[in-house]
Amino acid sequence: MKVLVLGAKGMLGSEVVNEFSNEEVIAWDVNDLDITNEKQVLKRIQEIEPNIVINCAAYTDFDGCENDVDKAYEVNAHSLPAIATACKRCNATLIHISSYMVFDGKNKEGYLEDDAKIPISVYGKAKAIGEDLVRKHMDDFRIVRTCWLYGKSGICRINEILQKLKTETEVDVAQDLYGRPTYAKDVAIALREIIEKPPGIYHVTNSYNCSRFELAKEMARLLDSECKINPLNQDDYLEDLKIHKPGMKLATRPKYCYLLNDKITPLRGWKEALEDYLKDTSDLKKTN
Ligand SMILES: NC(=O)c1ccc[n+]([C@@H]2O[C@H](COP(=O)([O-])OP(=O)(O)OC[C@H]3O[C@@H](n4cnc5c(N)ncnc54)[C@H](OP(=O)(O)O)[C@@H]3O)[C@@H](O)[C@H]2O)c1
Repeated sequence: MKVLVLGAKGMLGSEVVNEFSNEEVIAWDVNDLDITNEKQVLKRIQEIEPNIVINCAAYTDFDGCENDVDKAYEVNAHSLPAIATACKRCNATLIHISSYMVFDGKNKEGYLEDDAKIPISVYGKAKAIGEDLVRKHMDDFRIVRTCWLYGKSGICRINEILQKLKTETEVDVAQDLYGRPTYAKDVAIALREIIEKPPGIYHVTNSYNCSRFELAKEMARLLDSECKINPLNQDDYLEDLKIHKPGMKLATRPKYCYLLNDKITPLRGWKEALEDYLKDTSDLKKTN
C-alpha cells in the first residue's frame, strides 16, 4: 500500500507517518509540496499514484486565521479541490482531517457526524468549506474530525500547559471549556480502521469528557507538579491574551467540544492516553 501523508511534519502528520511505517510511506510537508499550489498538487500526486492520501496539512493557528483570513481559506478550504481531484484521478482514497471547530459548541450533549455544521470562527468556517469541497470533488473520501489534539511534535494549548506545569509556579486554565483531549498517536492508529469503512465523516477522539481545568489537574497529578492551577473563565483568559497580544483578533472557541462517535470502535479514555503520552515523552518513568 502506497500512503502519501501531507503535512507530514506536523503534530498529527508525524504520528501518521510513524503508524504507517510498515507500508510504503511518502511523507511531504510544505517544503515538499505546498497544498495551495494547485498545479503542483495535481501533478505531483498523480505522478506518485498513491493508494491512500492522508491530508494532515492545515493552517491550525486559529487566532492566526482571524488575522490572516485569506491564508486561512487558501490552506484550509481552497486547496481541497485539487487534492480531491488528484486522488480521484489516480483512484486513491482521501483521508482528510478536520476539526470540532466546524461546530458552535453550544450543544452540551455533543455532536454526531451528520449534525449541521455551525462554525463560529474563521478557522472553523474554512475547515467546514474544506469538508464540503472534498465531498463535491470525489466519492472515496473519509473526513476525520478530531478535538483537542496533543502530540510530541506540536505547538498546542495542552503542550503549553504541560510546559508551564513543569517550569512555572502558576498557570491559568479555562474551567468553562469542555472537550475530549486526544493523543495524536491514537488518531493515527484509528485511521487504519477508518480506511476499511465506507466513505463518510468519522469522529475520532479519546473517550470521556473533561474541562481544560480537569485536564490540567490530571496532568499535574501525573507529573507530581506543585504548580498552582488557577481556574479562569474563558472570557477572562481571552482578555488576558489580548493584553499579551495587542491588536490581535482572537477566535471564538466553542464551549462544549464533544465529538460523539457512533461509527468506529471507541478509543481508550483520555486519562490513559495522557499517561501514555507522558511516558512516551519521558515526562513519566515507564513502569514496564
Ligand atoms: N491541533 C488540534 O488541536 C486539532 C484539533 C482538531 C483538528 N485538528 C486538525 O488536525 C490536522 C492536523 O493538525 P496538527 O495539530 O497536526 O497541525 P500542525 O502541527 O500545525 O501540522 C500541520 C502541518 O501542515 C503544514 N502546512 C501548513 N501549511 C501548509 C501548506 N500550504 N502546504 C503543505 N503543508 C502545510 C504545517 O507546516 P508548518 O508548521 O511549516 O506551517 C504543519 O507541518 C489539521 O487538519 C487540523 O485542522 C487539529
